[in-house]
Amino acid sequence: MVIANRLYVSIERTGNIKMSKLLIEGGYKLKGKVNIGGFKNAAVAIIPAAIIAGDKCIIENLPNIDDVHALENILQQMGTDAKFDPDKKTMFIDSSKIESCHANYDVAKELRASYYLLGAGLGRFKKAKVAFPGGCDIGSRPIDQHIKGFEALGAKVKINHGIIEVEAEELIGTEIYLDVASVGATINIMMAAVRAKGKTIIENAAKEPHIVDVANFLNSMGADIKGAGTDVIRIYGVEKMKGSTYSVIPDQIEAGTYMVMTAATGGDVIIDNVIPKHLEPITAKLKEMGVKIKEYGESLRVVADSPLKKVNIKTLVYPGFPTDLQQPIAALLTIAKGTSIVTETIYEGRFKHVDELKRMGAKIKVDGRIAVIEGVEGLSGAKVKATDLRAGAALVVAALIADGTTEISNVHYIDRGYEIIEEKLLGLGAKIKRE
Ligand code: EPZ
Repeated sequence: MVIANRLYVSIERTGNIKMSKLLIEGGYKLKGKVNIGGFKNAAVAIIPAAIIAGDKCIIENLPNIDDVHALENILQQMGTDAKFDPDKKTMFIDSSKIESCHANYDVAKELRASYYLLGAGLGRFKKAKVAFPGGCDIGSRPIDQHIKGFEALGAKVKINHGIIEVEAEELIGTEIYLDVASVGATINIMMAAVRAKGKTIIENAAKEPHIVDVANFLNSMGADIKGAGTDVIRIYGVEKMKGSTYSVIPDQIEAGTYMVMTAATGGDVIIDNVIPKHLEPITAKLKEMGVKIKEYGESLRVVADSPLKKVNIKTLVYPGFPTDLQQPIAALLTIAKGTSIVTETIYEGRFKHVDELKRMGAKIKVDGRIAVIEGVEGLSGAKVKATDLRAGAALVVAALIADGTTEISNVHYIDRGYEIIEEKLLGLGAKIKRE
């Protein structure tokens, strides 16, 4: 069964990788309501973290995206009883029988988050063997801070033939001061430290909402983590942990993307199942552009009924403007009145969407980490290709704006982080189909 399942998954994904394109006819206002799924960047950490307890876990509100399928595949290959039900958006994980944590290149290359198996493996077995992670080509993406944290806890780290091996006789709580407020390193170190002896303090920790979500999940399994969401996180090692049922927070990046799409088409959309607090950076920027946004508990109403004003964007760690929305909002700025400046401080290579936007008539000049976007009257549909996940999202935004039809290839990048994007957009009145 597992083999069949694995075969199915690889064929299904290969099919995705080779074939699919999105065809979008622009110029239609988005109207209605869209339901936001669980947060990809929380889900891809919580799924590996589930193996730390060595028990049964049920993870709810998971997005139906390729990264979740890839992690289900990795856990199955490790011998974990893992089963994702896309309709119920739930994954059942029983890791009681596994005795090691290995992920080879073939599976680890599928996504960046495979590196979380290092922290989870240390937390469960005091060892793990994982091939270097894959993920979007948006810059160098080192993992030196992850390694710094593992070594500080007493683990030996070896890198041979593209495989990272971590192993510790004992994991001893310690103080770790991160050189950069890295999301991945903060989460990985938290996972390695939950059963270490004594107290671990992570200073200059990342404060993103998904750090809090992962800490809450670990605590639901019996960990003792305090301060997640601030730049000092304290982890008190515990002996025993047990399985739990946990629901992932809504995806603020998916929500932000639909807010941008609504603004791009002059639409009026209810963005449902969100935590407005997590959306404050994007809400503030869109309001600066003249978009009307009202909060209703767990949903927002976005109304764009006046010309868009130019704004300047500078990506920063939370609660600054999120780097993952830099590319989608850049597509929106191509038609704002005036010239906008976008500064990308997190990744040095996160402007690959610019050349594709210029094929659609955008006026953008990139110099290092700065993009100068001069607003134009409109865009025109063209054949373009996604180069990474959020660049793909930016092209969808541009296609919804453009006059005529846009064909977006390499849609597998988009499928990694946006669940059933064509269904959700069709539900809002977009003219979109997958080929
Ligand atoms: C996570 O990546 C997200 N991915 C990214 O989302 C997101 O852009 C990023 O956080 C920032 O918010 C997942 O959660 C799977 P970082 P991660 O470690 O953990 C440097 C998307 O589109 N750094 O916070 O890799 C690094 O070079 C993806 O959903 C080191 O120098 O991000 C970068 O400049 C793209 N050494 C900065 O820190 C390290 O050891 C931020 O990286 C680690 C990171």
